[in-house]
Amino acid sequence: MKITANSNNHFLAPALLVLLVLAVLAAPFALAQTVVKIDLAKPGIAVSPTLYGLMTEEINYSYDGGLYAELIRNRIFKDDEKTPVHWSVVQDAGGSASFALDQGHPIVDTALTTSLRLDALRASRGHRVGIANAGYWGIPVKPDTSYRASFYAKTAGAGGVPLTVSIEGSDGKQVYARAQGGTINGEWRKYTVTLKTAANVTPSAATRVVIATESPGTVWFNLVSLFPPTFQQRPNGNRIDLMQKLVDMKPSFLRLPGGNYLEGDTVATRFKWKETLGPLEQRPGHPGTWRYRSSDGMGLLEFMQWCEDMHAEPVLAVFAGYALKKETIPAGPQLQPFVDEALDEIEYITGDIHTKWGAQRARDGHPAPFSLRYVEIGNEDGFDTAKTYDGRYTQFHDAIKAKYPQLKLISTVNGKDSLGRRQLLTSRAPDLIDEHYYYGALEMMSDAARYDSYRRDQPKIMIGEWAAREGAPTTNLISALADAAWMTGMERNADVVEMSCYAPLLVNVNPGGMQWKSNLIGYDAQTSYGSPSYYAQKMFSEYLGNISLPVVAEHVSTQSWQPNAKKDQPPPAAKDVPTLFFSATKSAQRGEIYLKVVNAIGTEQTVKVELSGAGAVAEEGKAITLRSARPDDTNTITEPTKIVPVATRALGLGAQFSYRFAPYSVTVLVLSDK
Ligand code: AHR
Repeated sequence: MKITANSNNHFLAPALLVLLVLAVLAAPFALAQTVVKIDLAKPGIAVSPTLYGLMTEEINYSYDGGLYAELIRNRIFKDDEKTPVHWSVVQDAGGSASFALDQGHPIVDTALTTSLRLDALRASRGHRVGIANAGYWGIPVKPDTSYRASFYAKTAGAGGVPLTVSIEGSDGKQVYARAQGGTINGEWRKYTVTLKTAANVTPSAATRVVIATESPGTVWFNLVSLFPPTFQQRPNGNRIDLMQKLVDMKPSFLRLPGGNYLEGDTVATRFKWKETLGPLEQRPGHPGTWRYRSSDGMGLLEFMQWCEDMHAEPVLAVFAGYALKKETIPAGPQLQPFVDEALDEIEYITGDIHTKWGAQRARDGHPAPFSLRYVEIGNEDGFDTAKTYDGRYTQFHDAIKAKYPQLKLISTVNGKDSLGRRQLLTSRAPDLIDEHYYYGALEMMSDAARYDSYRRDQPKIMIGEWAAREGAPTTNLISALADAAWMTGMERNADVVEMSCYAPLLVNVNPGGMQWKSNLIGYDAQTSYGSPSYYAQKMFSEYLGNISLPVVAEHVSTQSWQPNAKKDQPPPAAKDVPTLFFSATKSAQRGEIYLKVVNAIGTEQTVKVELSGAGAVAEEGKAITLRSARPDDTNTITEPTKIVPVATRALGLGAQFSYRFAPYSVTVLVLSDK
């Protein structure tokens, strides 16, 4: 796209130039009107059907305490080696009890090696004692809702200890649902109960789950679990409201399982997919990279089912021998077990039931193979200061391509990254390169034309992580405007940018829930909301044609942006950043053109739109606008829909028309064939 900043393209006679200079001095704001020209006679470029996807990892309590619907925190008591964190003892009305972690009573042939031992010293009718868990910042109590509770338990002696399970207020005064848990005896056994709330309960998250007894004795517990209804009623499934928000974005793919989470702080704590399979009893969990332990309830199969439920394809990132604390496995024999691990992983996803890992998937409940087209080798290997990626990539590449020649492989390095650091080139040409861009809003706008000049003979791009990072815990309007500006750049270059996915996707907004400050969707135990950036992406994904049209913008005004100085360097020169951004795509099937316009400043801007080579364009169309008064306006958990897209009729459209774009707005104009 040609963007001219306050200039005119015509050659001007000197006298006219003088007049013009005088006129500009007299009326500095009387600038030429912005014109956008779209030539429909030109073929345009095919838009990659995978342009918009999602990226995910365990960060900000994205799965545990987020999308993964499990409500019990520290369900297998491994979150801390010494104390049963997130659990408390209940001692009602003079009842007396104590509890402690216990390694002496593992459940054989499972990962359940640490149990919680409750010593009910004094307990009788009306004087219950027990264990309580407040979940991830509360258990979401909702009216007329069934919760499925389960736990393993055993007692010290014969005779049995009867237990009740309840969901109640934090102080125990209000009971929302209660059920008999069964009479516990001397052998480990799994108990399952359903807890149902009444239709008239007031939603609350000032709550806890209690398993209690009114009999003295010793009880051991393990794998205590509580699930609310899940998306599409999947057992071990996902939270409904969050899934719906993701589905609404119409993502074409899901990049999984990270991010740093894939790599681990150390090789030992990488995402070991084999330990995330099968019954929960077999999943030990592992320390994540974002300062909390992962239950691995969201395992490899659950990732695939998540894709299935969104009608999105997986983009599988495989561990490639580099962990965050600079541990590297050099290419060669030492790396081979990790290459084999990746090959097994691909087989688990794609192999038929006669393959070793395809059979395992069938045993895990999914006989049908999943479709897989993209595999990413590692994550951000540019941070590998030992510079071993070239060899590692080559080894993975050769092994994967030999067995799965149809797979497209994604390299995590090439050229320069967003911070201008030199990266390694790979000996094998990757099918795609994963680039990451975390920017300030103006910085992102200033780079929105990045791919306009990208060499077309280079590998295609997956922008595997990107975001304008203003606003926390979720980004604000100015970030959404910058994100939208960036997306216009992706759409104009949809022949090069094959895939893109914003990051991070999810954040639990409770104190302590956030590890990364700019996120797309926020939630607490009860509710969730989309940031303005979420809605900008939803608009871009929803209104996307299959052909990107050439757009020429003239007389676009600019604003000034002062980049930060790099350490020990003088401040760089200020940059002119456009105030308007454009892209246009056409859907032949729907007979529509989607003109996307971002007005990044607080002043309305009128743009003349000229469509040439067009058939007749209907006078009436639709405008979908996302806007607010201030750039730092945002959505929050208490004001979730302050900024949402609003659809209106757009009149006076045609082959040539002028349109007034609201201050601080993202607009999609839907132009229809007449
Ligand atoms: O998205 C947050 C982190 O940013 C990712 O884990 C990592 O890939 C990147 O550095």
